[in-house]
Amino acid sequence: MDKQAELSIVRQAYAKQVLAAAGVSDSRIESAYASVRREDFLGPGPWEIVRFGNYVRTPSDDPVYLYTNDLVGIIPERQINNGEPSFHATLINQAAPAAGEHVVHVGAGVGYYSAIFAELVGKSGGVTAIEYLPELATRAKANLRDYSNVEVLQGDGAVTPFREAHVVYVNAGATRPADIWLDQLAQGGRLVLPLTTDKGFSDTFDKITSGVVFRIERRGDAYLANWLSSVAVFPCAGSRDEESELALAEALRKGGEQKVTRLYRDNLLPADRCWLRASGWCLAYS
Ligand SMILES: C[S@@+](CC[C@H](N)C(=O)[O-])C[C@H]1O[C@@H](n2cnc3c(N)ncnc32)[C@H](O)[C@@H]1O
Repeated sequence: MDKQAELSIVRQAYAKQVLAAAGVSDSRIESAYASVRREDFLGPGPWEIVRFGNYVRTPSDDPVYLYTNDLVGIIPERQINNGEPSFHATLINQAAPAAGEHVVHVGAGVGYYSAIFAELVGKSGGVTAIEYLPELATRAKANLRDYSNVEVLQGDGAVTPFREAHVVYVNAGATRPADIWLDQLAQGGRLVLPLTTDKGFSDTFDKITSGVVFRIERRGDAYLANWLSSVAVFPCAGSRDEESELALAEALRKGGEQKVTRLYRDNLLPADRCWLRASGWCLAYS
């Protein structure tokens, strides 16, 4: 069989497996995973796949090895990885990008998940992919050159200006939401926000910090919040401060993140209504 025909079938099976592992049933998301070629984003193989906490080199440069539910090293020596497909499927499903919407992807890496979003919002929508590291932003630009609905910006996604967004999808661990992510969220817009402490995820992956992911939805002046999952992810440059990090570590020690319902952009609520409270913001139970 022709190699491209084989890979197309493998990609369709991968998309089904990824969505099943995520517990997501959405034919649009499945089609997006089935159509974006992971090998076009990760550079020439063989690739370093994360297996049981270590990088393991694929036996060859056959792209078939990229179609498993695994993280793949982008810059393994810095522990920057292309994220786990089913984890992203869960979060993308929660972000619920509709055709015609504008998605801002902070921490785009080499652009694989930006391309998935581009498929989901279609030609009438758009994706602004922001990547901090110049070498990765350059690769993302090249990888996404055929997507007329994607703009790649190199910079700090916590301060780089962008137009109003229906989805802000952050792929690096912050200690607090950046103002621009909340200011530029459209009415009904959804922010996927990973918050991580400074604690290393493991001895092997000590640059990867662990924490939790919240979904924040803008409703009028309110920001509804709900816990989505635990996470271990590379830190978000420019969106970490010591006070919020300490408050987050304390909140995680205490537990109760699954009961959070609101994000406030002040810290005026009494402590017993808050899961986490720091200067100028809090995550609260009501
Ligand atoms: C865990 S990697 C994920 C990359 C990509 N989303 C993927 O799964 O292939 C996190 C990425 O966020 C980038 N990053 C960290 N802080 C950032 C910031 N403030 N603004 C934009 N990108 C940032 C890192 O350089 C890295 O490429």
